Order: sequence, then C-alpha cells, then structure tokens
Amino acid sequence: MKKLLSLLLVFSLLLSLAACGEPKQEAEQMPDFKAELTDSTVEYTLDELELLSAEPRLTVADKGVPALYKYFEDKVKIGVAFTSNQINPFLNVGANLVNDAPDTSMKITQGILKHYNIYVLGNEMKSDHCNPAPDTYNFTDADNFVNFGKAANAELRGHTIVWHSQVPQWWFKADPNDPASVADCYANGTLATREQLTERLTTYINELIPRYKDSIKYWDVCNEVLNADSIRTTSDDSYWAEIIGDVDGNGYKDDYVEIAFNAVREAGGEDLVLMINDFNMEWQNSKTQAMYDMVERMLRKGVRIDGVGFQSHIGLDCNVELFRQNIEKIAGLAEVYDECFPEHKGNFRVQITELDMNMYVGAHAGEYGFTKWTDEEYQKQADKYAELFEMFLDFADEGVIDAILFWGTDDENSWLNNMDGKMRRNAALIIDRDMTLKPCFWSIAKTSFNH
Ligand code: GLA
Repeated sequence: MKKLLSLLLVFSLLLSLAACGEPKQEAEQMPDFKAELTDSTVEYTLDELELLSAEPRLTVADKGVPALYKYFEDKVKIGVAFTSNQINPFLNVGANLVNDAPDTSMKITQGILKHYNIYVLGNEMKSDHCNPAPDTYNFTDADNFVNFGKAANAELRGHTIVWHSQVPQWWFKADPNDPASVADCYANGTLATREQLTERLTTYINELIPRYKDSIKYWDVCNEVLNADSIRTTSDDSYWAEIIGDVDGNGYKDDYVEIAFNAVREAGGEDLVLMINDFNMEWQNSKTQAMYDMVERMLRKGVRIDGVGFQSHIGLDCNVELFRQNIEKIAGLAEVYDECFPEHKGNFRVQITELDMNMYVGAHAGEYGFTKWTDEEYQKQADKYAELFEMFLDFADEGVIDAILFWGTDDENSWLNNMDGKMRRNAALIIDRDMTLKPCFWSIAKTSFNH
C-alpha cells in the first residue's frame, strides 16, 4: 500500500513538473527601497528639519532629503495616489531605481517609493477599467500596483467598487450590448433589473476581492453615494438607487450599499477594512449628517462598515474648524460600531483619502491659464496645510484617523489643473512640477513634532 502511495506521489510530481514546463526564473531581488532612497545619516530631528527647509530647491529624490512618512511613523500613515504609468520605471528598471534618477518620471517613482507608506491607484482599479464588458476582466494595472506596493513595503487601498461614475455602463442596461446610453435606457424603460445589477456587481466582486484580499487591506467599497443630504438618485446621475431600490422596505433606497458591503465582506473575510468615501463632508454639515445617519442605519442592520473616507479636495480657504467638527461627528459612529460589533471594537476609523488644495480661490477664483504663484501664496498654502495637519494629528492621537493620502504625486499631476474642461496651472500638492519640495512639504513635516 505504502509503495503504491509513493508511486502515485512520484507520478503526480512528474505530472505537475510537466505542466509547469521550464522552471520560472527567480524573481529579481528587490532592495529595501525605503532605506536605500534615503541617506542613512538623515536624523529626523526638528533642528535638522529647520536647516533642510531653509535650503533652496531640494528635490523629492535627493538622498539627503528625509522621507515624509518617517516623521509620522506610529502616528498616522502618509500616502499618495498615482496612475499606473507613474510606476512604469519600476516595471522597466526595477531594483535600479535606487540609483540616480536622470529624468522626471523616474524621480516621480522614486518619490512614491520613498515618501509614503500607503498607496492608492488613482484610476485603474475603478470598475469600468477592470470589468469593461461581460466576462471581461482587466487586472493588469492592478496586479502591477500590488507588486509595486509589495516591493515598496507599503499598505494599499483599493479604489473603488460602487460609484456612479467610472463604473461599467453595461451593468445598468437590460441588454448589456444596448448601444443606448444609460440615461436613454432609463427613459425607454430598458434599464437592468434589480436581479441583473445585483448579479453583475457580485460577480465582479467575486473576481476582484479574492484576487487581492491578501494584498489590499483597505477598500472604498462605495464612493460618493450621497448628494447634499440623501442618497443619490437619477437626477444626480446615479442609477443604483433607481434600479436596486428599497429592498427591505425601511423607506431608504440605500440597499445597494448594503449589498455591496456584504458581498465584499463575504468574498474577502473579516480582516479587510471596508470603507465608504465621499466629498464635501469637510464643510457641508447636511451631507456629513446624511453619512452619519446612513452608516448608523447600516451598522444597526449588521452591515459592517469599518470607516468613512473624507476625500478632502479642499481649497486654500478651507475652514479647518468646520472640517474638525465634521470629522468629530463621523468619529461618533465608533460608539455605534463597537456596540454592534463588539468583537471588532476599536476598528472604526476615519481616513483622509484624497487630499489636495485648490489655489484658485478668493481673488483667483474663476481664473484660467498660466498663473505664477508668489512666494507669499506658497507660504499661505504651507500655513494652511500645517493647520490642517495639526487638526488631523489631534484625531490621529485619539486613534480616529489612521491614514492621510494626497491625491497626486506633484503639482503637474493633479486633476485640479483642469477645470470645466479648461486648463489652469494649479499648485495643489506638496511637490512642485520640477520635483522640488514646496514650503508645505516642510510645514507638514514640522507638525509631527507637536504630537
Ligand atoms: C473623486 C474620485 C477620485 C478621482 C477624483 C478626481 O474624488 O473619488 O477617484 O476621480 O474625484 O480625480
């Protein structure tokens, strides 16, 4: 019997070798990018920071420049959104990225590797990109993102599954091949049924989540499901509520949110951190209240939502005190969460998911074209970012906020350079177009010494 078993074992080993063909080449040994992109003599003291910040035109990739995330280690994760083309140098030159970066694109990749410890892919994990047609999946960019994140030893956010924008249009049509727009299908009565849409969404989730559940911990399961004070409807360009409707008859058409969260949880397990993400909650109290009410309702129904993302596309004129009050409001949901999910007590959080600062406010509002920002304006921005980070870090100290991510690598690579289809030269982020560090890079780092 034993002999027979070992013969079978040898036979199956041979079979599997034959199936594998040539043994795969060893994966390229990656360096510890975070360590090697920074000079080991960098100290992270306030004195050193003062000296460095007075030096003109240090670039993001200079080894003598400290890594931003390091100042905040053990306080809060610092992250960035990028597009897959911005990690191409990693795919092309791999381990060589620790050497001098001759061009801007390499510097951008080095900057991402070095300064941040949580990443999000800005566009290529959206559902329209990943599931463009029935039975068609496109996960190449997402796979590259995950490999990059692993090599950089960073945590990852998955953005985003349910949204009204950048979501496959065929999901919403009775006939997925119908060339009519979704709006026309609505007018013609040829939208998908509740069953069809639920089936398409859960099929997608069951492809996506098992593939990434061991590498991507944080997920924006739903993005922007609210208008100013309630669930989005067809008049806000969203067909989710119209099609799925009020399944449980509680008077609210937010059941698609419940379906999505439950499907992701089922596919991904207890360890995933599942979040709901939205904009304007920084200042619009009615929207924050609507988010609070909806999440509370979900939690009490047994839908485990682990946190709320404040997108935080703010302006130079941001009212930080109002922002603080709105985070405080959402942070109050932790009590409901702990009551509903005692076995996950303390797991509810707020994240700042898409931070950037529009400079075209006040006297500049409505301007387009080329604007040369003055030193004074850059200083104003540095002060505003510092004020914001002081507030975020107060919440981090309390265990409310655990991650802050910038929406873009540098001022050139920001959606805010485009307004109403016209170009303008915004300066929303902490790194300049030539990859030099702006005053706000240093003012933000300084806030870490007060917490
Ligand atoms: C929203 C979305 C992001 C991105 C930005 C603009 O905030 O959540 O995915 O599209 O708009 O770039």
